[in-house]
Amino acid sequence: MEPSVTKPKAFLCRRFTKNVETAMRARYDLRVNENDSILSPDQIIQNTQGCEILFASATERITDHVLRELAPTLRYVATLSVGYDHIHMAAAQDLDIGILHTPDVLSDACAEIAMMLMLNACRRGHEADSMVRSGSWTGWSPTQLLGTGLKGKRVLVFGMGRIGREIAVRARAFGMEIHYHNRRPLSPELAANATYHANLDDALKVADVLVIAVPGAPQLKGIINAQRLALLPERAVLVNISRGELVDDDALITALATGRLFAAGLDVFANEPDIDPRYRELDNVFLSPHLGSATQETRDAMGWLLINGLDALYQGTRPDNLLNN
Ligand code: DGY
Repeated sequence: MEPSVTKPKAFLCRRFTKNVETAMRARYDLRVNENDSILSPDQIIQNTQGCEILFASATERITDHVLRELAPTLRYVATLSVGYDHIHMAAAQDLDIGILHTPDVLSDACAEIAMMLMLNACRRGHEADSMVRSGSWTGWSPTQLLGTGLKGKRVLVFGMGRIGREIAVRARAFGMEIHYHNRRPLSPELAANATYHANLDDALKVADVLVIAVPGAPQLKGIINAQRLALLPERAVLVNISRGELVDDDALITALATGRLFAAGLDVFANEPDIDPRYRELDNVFLSPHLGSATQETRDAMGWLLINGLDALYQGTRPDNLLNN
């Protein structure tokens, strides 16, 4: 008789793609949040009791309390995101709980969304769509919905990591001049002729288009505030694919409403999905519901990266997407 192999118990906070869930069911004794609701920390604790693995995403707050309550059995938190600002990393380290995330496989998809936001903000995608849909279009006119072009403009990538570099590749193809701000300059090979700015405030002064692609972190909350928005050239465009909390909503809304900024494209917001309602009233902002990595291929690849990482850990090897330990 085959020796019986006990599958590790796992809880899946959000529904993954069919392919990924099938692979998970084959490996784990899987409990699933069938209705795909966003769970509170207490609900996560209740559902994950007795599990070795918690599959989370950026919508779940994996707090110090959650990790301490689950620590007696929990070995790994695998998050379907590259960002891990929703996880209390210090507690995970302290409790010896491994954290896996999904870098690299989503860089292209996120860069595409950045370009979608940039193009829609610059070429007035929201107003254009509304005009045609509402029936208020009266025909072509030489002065209708004039936007601002990308060619020859300076784009500042704030956060030139894996995603930022893919944005730079695409922006260059549109004829843009690439600038970036990181804590440290990239190697010449990775920088690929982009201009480095060591100081964020100096960098903002050249940004016809500012793209926020830096990883979210509590210490960056409100970093793009009224003073920094005032450093951007007149009629600049702001794109955010990182985390909404990095931008001061009052300051951005004022800059958009007064026309100081030409437009913004936002895929992320503070307090999602309850966004600041004033954004809905502005015509010069293109709004997107946190779709950065939302392609079928990318979500499959993200799920597989977590599964393969866990397979490696159960076989005693360290996967590249393990963040700690
Ligand atoms: C990420 O991967 O961090 C995205 O923002 C989705 O959560």
